[in-house]
Amino acid sequence: MSGRLEGKVAIVTGSSSGIGQAIAMRFAQEGADIVIDYRSHSEGANDTKTAVEKAGRRAVVVQADVSKVADTANLVEQAYAQLGGCHVLVNNAGIEKGSDFWEVTEEDYDAVLDVNLKGAFFLTQAFVRRLHDLKQPGRVLNVSSVHEDMVFPHFDTYAASKGAMRMLMRNLAVELGPLGITVNNIAPGAIETPINAKMMQNKAELDPLLANIPLGRMGKSDEVAALAAFLASDDAAYITGSTYVIDGGLMRNYHEQ
Ligand code: BGC
Repeated sequence: MSGRLEGKVAIVTGSSSGIGQAIAMRFAQEGADIVIDYRSHSEGANDTKTAVEKAGRRAVVVQADVSKVADTANLVEQAYAQLGGCHVLVNNAGIEKGSDFWEVTEEDYDAVLDVNLKGAFFLTQAFVRRLHDLKQPGRVLNVSSVHEDMVFPHFDTYAASKGAMRMLMRNLAVELGPLGITVNNIAPGAIETPINAKMMQNKAELDPLLANIPLGRMGKSDEVAALAAFLASDDAAYITGSTYVIDGGLMRNYHEQ
C-alpha cells in the first residue's frame, strides 16, 4: 500500500473497536504512527496496537475518557511526548442511547453529549493549541453520522450531538483555515460495528433498515477507514468544511410504496 501518511502521527479516539479501530489500522498501513485511545475496552486497544505494529508503525495506547477535558489534553501530550508530534486528529469516539424523548434522563443526555460533542470540542482545542504554538498545519476529521443531517427519532440526544458536530466542523474550518488546519466530517450510515450489534441481531429492526439502503447492505468499517485515509492525506489538501457521507445511498432514499 502507498504510504500517503508517511511520517505523520495521528490520534484516533475510540480506536479499540469498530470504525476507530479500522481507521487506526488503515492509517498505519499508509505509514502513520498512532495514538490509540480507549475508555474501557483495553483488550481491543491492544489488538489495534498489535495490528499497527504489524504494519511496521509505532503505537501508543492511552486510556482516556474524552468527556474529561484533562484526559483529552493528556492524549495530545502523549502524542508529543512518545511519538514526537501530532498531525492528524480523528474524533471518532461516540455513543448512542435510544429511548422515547419523554424518557430521556439528565444522565443519559450528559453521557451522550459529553462524549460525542464535548469530547470532540476540547480534544480539538488541545490539538489546535499545539499546532498554533508551533505554527504547523494539521488535519481534523470528525466521525459524525448521517444523523448530523437526517432525523433519528428516539435517538434525540445522539442526533442533537451530531448536528452540533456538523456546525462545529463548519465553524472551525473557517476559523482554522488561516492556520493551515483543515476540518471535515465523515458521516457514516449503518455500518457493521459494535454500536449496531444489537440491532443487527434483530431481524425486525434490520430488515426495514436494509430495505432503505439502495446498495442493499450495511457498510464495513474498512470502507469508512478508506475514506478517512484519503481525507487525512495530501490528496485532500484543498478540502475543508465538508461532510463526506458514506451510507450506501441511505440518506437519499425516499420513495413511495
Ligand atoms: C447510528 C446507527 C444507525 C445508523 C443509520 C448511525 O449513526 O449509530 O445506530 O443504524 O446511523 O441510521
